[in-house]
Amino acid sequence: MYSSKCLIGLLLTAILKCVHSVDLRGVTIVSPPFVMKAHNNHFEGYAIDLLNELSRIAKFNYTLYPTPDDRYGSSDKTGKPTGMIQELFMRRADFAIGDLVVSTIRERYIDFSEPFMDLDLSALINKQNVGNMTSFAHLLHSNLTYGTLRESETYRFMSMSADLTIQNLQRYIFMNSYNLVDSRQEGIERARNSNYAFIQV
Ligand SMILES: *[C@@H]1O[C@H](CO)[C@@H](O)[C@H](O)[C@H]1NC(C)=O
Ligand SMILES: *[C@@H]1O[C@H](CO)[C@@H](O)[C@H](O)[C@H]1NC(C)=O
Ligand SMILES: *[C@@H]1O[C@H](CO)[C@@H](O)[C@H](O)[C@H]1NC(C)=O
Repeated sequence: MYSSKCLIGLLLTAILKCVHSVDLRGVTIVSPPFVMKAHNNHFEGYAIDLLNELSRIAKFNYTLYPTPDDRYGSSDKTGKPTGMIQELFMRRADFAIGDLVVSTIRERYIDFSEPFMDLDLSALINKQNVGNMTSFAHLLHSNLTYGTLRESETYRFMSMSADLTIQNLQRYIFMNSYNLVDSRQEGIERARNSNYAFIQV
């Protein structure tokens, strides 16, 4: 039986109070330290802690599944959404959680919560190569090569940036797959041992 109290008030509150159980289905992507695989198909990490706190306060239960194509998601050439954006758009997931960058392309398909983190790009450069560089514009016009982690959110963040310098850095990185590294460790090593600037968030 529903009490009369729960029939008034905000829709969301009403749903949460009247329905006996609230089970939400969420989609995520593994990206340490935000989301990491734990035992028994569970996930852990910074974003998961945040989600657990939310579920406690808003009183909902949830299950999480990894996005099938292992992509954060944007839209492909035909305008079809991909990755977690697609899962939301097709309503296979009620929410997505992870280090997903807010972008205008993505906002065409989905709504974002308030961002929980601001991203800042940095470049890791061997001391001997830093010279007088104090900005990405300097880096762009330097004789260093630069790159970032393959398939990373840094890479996506750069490609979505409204900043012309960042766009140009991204274009340069995109031209040659050699500029991309497969792990943070590889990026750090390459920056240490060569004329390479490792860009990361
Ligand atoms: C969450 O799941 C537990 C255990 O199955 C259940 O007792 C509880 O009522 C559920 N809570 C909500 C808000 O759905
Ligand atoms: C760095 O700055 C100093 C002082 O402004 C200048 O003398 C020097 O030539 C600069 N070095 C390079 C490599 O641009
Ligand atoms: C890169 O440029 C700096 C000065 O801007 C110079 O000292 C250095 O030798 C150059 N390195 C290479 C590999 O060309």
